Amino acid sequence: MSAPNPQPGIMDIAPYVGGESDIDGAQKIIKLSSNESALGPSPDAANAFADLKAELHRYPDGDCRELRDAIAEVHGVDPTRVICGAGSDEIISLLCQAYAGPGDEVLYSRHGFLMYPISAQSVGATPLHAPETDLTADVDALLDAVTERTRMVFLANPNNPTGTYLPAPEVARLHAGLRDDILLVIDAAYAEYVGREDYTAGVELVETSSNVVMTRTFSKIYGLGGMRLGWGYGPPGVVDVLNRIRGPFNAGAAAQAAGVAAVRDLAFTKRVRDHNDTWLPWTRDRLRELGLSVTDSVGNFLLVCFGDHPDHGAKAAEKFLKQNAIIVRMMAGYGLPDCLRITVGTENEMRSVVDALSRFLGKNA
Ligand SMILES: Cc1ncc(COP(=O)(O)O)c(C=O)c1O
Repeated sequence: MSAPNPQPGIMDIAPYVGGESDIDGAQKIIKLSSNESALGPSPDAANAFADLKAELHRYPDGDCRELRDAIAEVHGVDPTRVICGAGSDEIISLLCQAYAGPGDEVLYSRHGFLMYPISAQSVGATPLHAPETDLTADVDALLDAVTERTRMVFLANPNNPTGTYLPAPEVARLHAGLRDDILLVIDAAYAEYVGREDYTAGVELVETSSNVVMTRTFSKIYGLGGMRLGWGYGPPGVVDVLNRIRGPFNAGAAAQAAGVAAVRDLAFTKRVRDHNDTWLPWTRDRLRELGLSVTDSVGNFLLVCFGDHPDHGAKAAEKFLKQNAIIVRMMAGYGLPDCLRITVGTENEMRSVVDALSRFLGKNA
């Protein structure tokens, strides 16, 4: 019997595997596997979500007007160039749908976010990665990997899972080295956490060129991962293209309401960032003292590398942490089999993970 066949290449996609959230038999777990916010959502966002419960039968505003205005006000951007969607994942996949197809190449850096190759393959394009230097995107390597077939370049800045970033002049150099018909997508999912002076999320580059798009999310500092809300900022022509292919109501009403409240709650956003500014370096330094190799992450997570010792490697560490009800993320899918990614959680969670890893390595915390 014949059966419907998916488009060529679809069955070659390795499905995205999200961070685990359960451990068999464990009641109370510490989940540090998905880069979720340590402090959860803003109470204003939770209230806005709750206030919507009598309106669940109503379709959302398909233009996300209030949300785009709130984003524009807070982030200092032009609301007409903002497009919202069900997470930045949706914006990434819409961009691939619109700008890449069979025979085209989509470029990203070696340990870049996995949704880039998945989205590229889903439209029949070929994902290719360029080597990194010191677990950081390498502009020269990316430019060297461009061919006449390249249609898109994805740069996560900062990158997940490495946590490293390219300073603004390097991003500008990458852009300057690309042909005008190549779309540069700057994925700034963790931008709100970054306090470095030489960092920019990409707004200026979007506004001064016709081939740069920035993507952002409500899943990280705003703590709304469950709502599925993200946005893109692009040239009017690109935004127009995406508006033609997106679903008419691709951002739900509850997500929009929560998003408006979250983005306007500046005091809460600052609290989350202050928390991260304390516990990210604290955890990094403690883990380095244990002899582990930890990147200089500017996100809300750390990439921790163990070396390949069978008893003290990443796999054994992940198992040990699980036995202690702590879930972190294995990184083999990102080409980093010796590393784990650990999200910055609450103070107690960070103390617990450091304590557990000290015991794992046979050292006193
Ligand atoms: C670099 C990067 N981009 C995009 C996303 C997707 O975020 P969203 O929840 O908005 O789809 C993530 C989520 O982990 C990420 O790490």
